[in-house]
Amino acid sequence: MTTEAIRTRGLTKVYGKFTAVDHVDMDVPSGSVFGLLGPNGAGKTTIIKLLTGLSDLSDGEASVAGFDVRREPMQVKRNVGWVAAEVILDDDFSAWENLWLQAKLQRLDGWKGRADALLAYFELTDRRKDKVSTYSTGMRKKLEIALALLHQPQVIFMDEPTIGLDPNTRRMLWELIEGVHTEFGISVLLTSHYIEEADRLCDRVSIIDHGKFVASGTPDELKSKVKADIIEVETATSVDEVALRAIPGVSEARTQGKAWILRVVSAEEVLPRILAALRDNGIRRVNVEKPSLETVFLDVTGRRLGETAGESTDFRKFYAQMRRARQ
Ligand SMILES: Nc1ncnc2c1ncn2[C@@H]1O[C@H](COP(=O)(O)OP(=O)(O)OP(=O)(O)O)[C@@H](O)[C@H]1O
Ligand SMILES: [Mg+2]
Repeated sequence: MTTEAIRTRGLTKVYGKFTAVDHVDMDVPSGSVFGLLGPNGAGKTTIIKLLTGLSDLSDGEASVAGFDVRREPMQVKRNVGWVAAEVILDDDFSAWENLWLQAKLQRLDGWKGRADALLAYFELTDRRKDKVSTYSTGMRKKLEIALALLHQPQVIFMDEPTIGLDPNTRRMLWELIEGVHTEFGISVLLTSHYIEEADRLCDRVSIIDHGKFVASGTPDELKSKVKADIIEVETATSVDEVALRAIPGVSEARTQGKAWILRVVSAEEVLPRILAALRDNGIRRVNVEKPSLETVFLDVTGRRLGETAGESTDFRKFYAQMRRARQ
């Protein structure tokens, strides 16, 4: 076992004239959970494809589980697992049959003990003989992770592991993902749109935007860099930007949709002044935010992650469509 699960220097992927991944340096220590947080199209899945040998590097270098992705692609493939964002299960098969199929495809010997342990860990033992078509979305996700762990990889890549799941199922899955590296001695790289997920699960997070890492660190380190509170305010009538900026303690003001997003030194101190200044504008909504990974994202990109992430997309519908398409 190497001490570094993933190491990249200048990792780059270019499609024609478009740079999807732009000189990314990444160090993921063994046994840790690393998160790539970024909006749609940021380059998260592309990074996973580069690190799992599914896509060739345009420039730079990368090693996974101690193997060079260019020179030793077979060893890399043998030592990584991948949980894709889209469904990969065979609906007409039971959990056990899906595991059996995976073992055949990967020519694994002595996989049954491991499969039993995985089913037990993911609490699927009772349902192991039932067709996957009868599973809930959460159960399907658990089985997908189990399949990716069957060949005992050292590093597992999880692309949006909890997308489309309801909040309770998502939390349940977080616990299982957290346990995976202690239980099975594995390092995890996951991608996410969900701030709370990255905050809760990841030892280290990199925020990626337009193919570049714009901030990296532990969630606490990242949050401590934002030395400001955010006040969001929506009014009935339009507000003069100059007037907002003139309020003592407001260091920045920008509009997003109908709201103003103000960066302030301390919300407790500045909010009364803002309310007074906007008294005649008909305040409709005020929202105060203390530093979080969301405000870190806002700070480094000038946008909110939630608004760019397509949160409104009905992923359940997406899953259902994927399943139908497979039948
Ligand atoms: N095969 C390809 N050919 C051309 N462009 C591509 C290809 N694959 C990805 N891209 C582009 O690269 C960019 C990054 O895509 P990627 O799938 O890595 O984003 P992502 O961060 O995973 O987004 P999402 O959150 O939507 O999954 C996008 O602009 C995408 O259109
Ligand atoms: Mg993606």
